[in-house]
Amino acid sequence: MIRSKVVSVGLIGLGGMSNFYFGNISQINPLQVSAICDTNQELLNNIGQREGISQDKRFIHIEEIIASPDVDAIISVVPNNLHAKILELCILHQKPILAEKPFTLNFEEAKNLNKLYKRNPIPCMVGFIHRYTPSFQYAKKLIEENIIGQIRYIDVRYQQSFGAPLFNVSYLWRFNKEVTGTGALGDLGAHMIDSARFFVGEFHSVSALMETFVDKRKDPITGEPRHIDVDDFTSFHAVLGNGVVGNFVTTRNAIGSSNQHEVTLYGDFGTIHVNIERPNEIDIYVRGETEEIPVLKSERVPEIYDKTILGDFAELIINKQNQDMPIFEDGYKNQKVIDCIITSAEKGCFVKVDSQEVLWEKVKSISG
Ligand SMILES: NC(=O)c1ccc[n+]([C@@H]2O[C@H](COP(=O)([O-])OP(=O)(O)OC[C@H]3O[C@@H](n4cnc5c(N)ncnc54)[C@H](O)[C@@H]3O)[C@@H](O)[C@H]2O)c1
Repeated sequence: MIRSKVVSVGLIGLGGMSNFYFGNISQINPLQVSAICDTNQELLNNIGQREGISQDKRFIHIEEIIASPDVDAIISVVPNNLHAKILELCILHQKPILAEKPFTLNFEEAKNLNKLYKRNPIPCMVGFIHRYTPSFQYAKKLIEENIIGQIRYIDVRYQQSFGAPLFNVSYLWRFNKEVTGTGALGDLGAHMIDSARFFVGEFHSVSALMETFVDKRKDPITGEPRHIDVDDFTSFHAVLGNGVVGNFVTTRNAIGSSNQHEVTLYGDFGTIHVNIERPNEIDIYVRGETEEIPVLKSERVPEIYDKTILGDFAELIINKQNQDMPIFEDGYKNQKVIDCIITSAEKGCFVKVDSQEVLWEKVKSISG
C-alpha cells in the first residue's frame, strides 16, 4: 500500500539501462528514486552522490532494498539471472515492480513465478519499452481502425552491431548462458516477440534457427579466450492469431545496424512500417481517394501518442491498469515463446506454443 503522494522507488542495478530510468523518472510526478542498489560499491557511491541519495538508502543486497519499509516500489535493471529472484521477493513483500526484460532466465523460472504471482498478485510491469514508441502506438491505432485491412503477414527485425568481430567486444555477461539465458534472442528477440503480440496477438507455432558466429571472446580480466554458449543470430517463422504469419530476424552482429527494431505489417489493403530509430515517423502505403494504387505516405506521428512506460507504472501502482501496458502476463507469455523457439532450433521442428508440443510438419492453421 502506498502511503503518500510521492512513490519512493528503489532502483536495483545501476548499469547502462538505469540511465533510461534516471533520465525519465523526474518527468513522472509521483515517482522519485529514493533508494538504490548495486553490488558495485564504487558505482553505488558515485550514483548515490550524483542523485543525492543518502548513505542509508544505498544498498548492496537486493533483499534489503526490497524489504525496506521506506521503499514503495521497485525498478529492476539487473542481469537476467536475477530477474526471477527480484520478482519473487517483490511478490513476497507485496511491492509493485517494473522489471526489465527478458522476463526470466528460462521458462522453468517463469512457471514457478506464475504460481507465486497467481496466489499473491502485485502491480507488475515488464520493460517492453518499444510498445511505447510513438510510431508503434500510432500504428496500433491505425490497425484498429482497419486502414490496411486484414493483416496477413508481419515482418520483424531487431539488429544491432556491437557483437561483430570488427568491434572485438570482450566477454561480458551477455555472452554467458548461466547469466543471460540466451544471446540475441532474449536480449533483442524478446522485444520482437512483444511487438508482434502487441500488434497482432498470440503466437501459435514457431520454427527457428539459432547460430553462434563468434565462439570465443577475450575475458577482460584474465585475457584468456572464453567459450560462447549463446546465440549471435536467431531467426524464426511463426503462425500467430487470425492465421497471420510472421518472419523474425535478430542479431547483434549486423554492421550498419545501430539499434534497428523495425516492424512491417502487410494487410489486404495496405502496409504499415515503423522503426524505433525514427520514433516519430510512420510509413503507410494505402490508396487514397484519388489514387489508383497504394502510394507511400511518410507521416509525422501526432503528438498525442506520448504515453510512457514510467507514466503507466505510476498509474498501475495506484491500481489503474491501462490498455496495452506490458504486465506480468506479457512477460510470462513472452518467455514461453522464447522457450519454444529454443526447442524448435534444437530439434529442427515446429513447436506449438500453447502445449509446447513438438510437430514434425508445418502448422497450416491456428488449430493445426
Ligand atoms: N528494455 C530495454 O530496451 C533494455 C535495454 C537494455 C537493457 N535492458 C535490460 O536491463 C538489464 C540490465 O542491462 P544493462 O545493460 O543495464 O546491464 P549492465 O551490465 O550495464 O548493468 C547491470 C548492473 O547490475 C548490477 N548488478 C549485478 N548483480 C547485481 C546484484 N546481485 N545486485 C545488484 N546489482 C547487481 C551490475 O553491477 C551493473 O551495474 C538486463 O536485463 C537487460 O536485458 C533492457
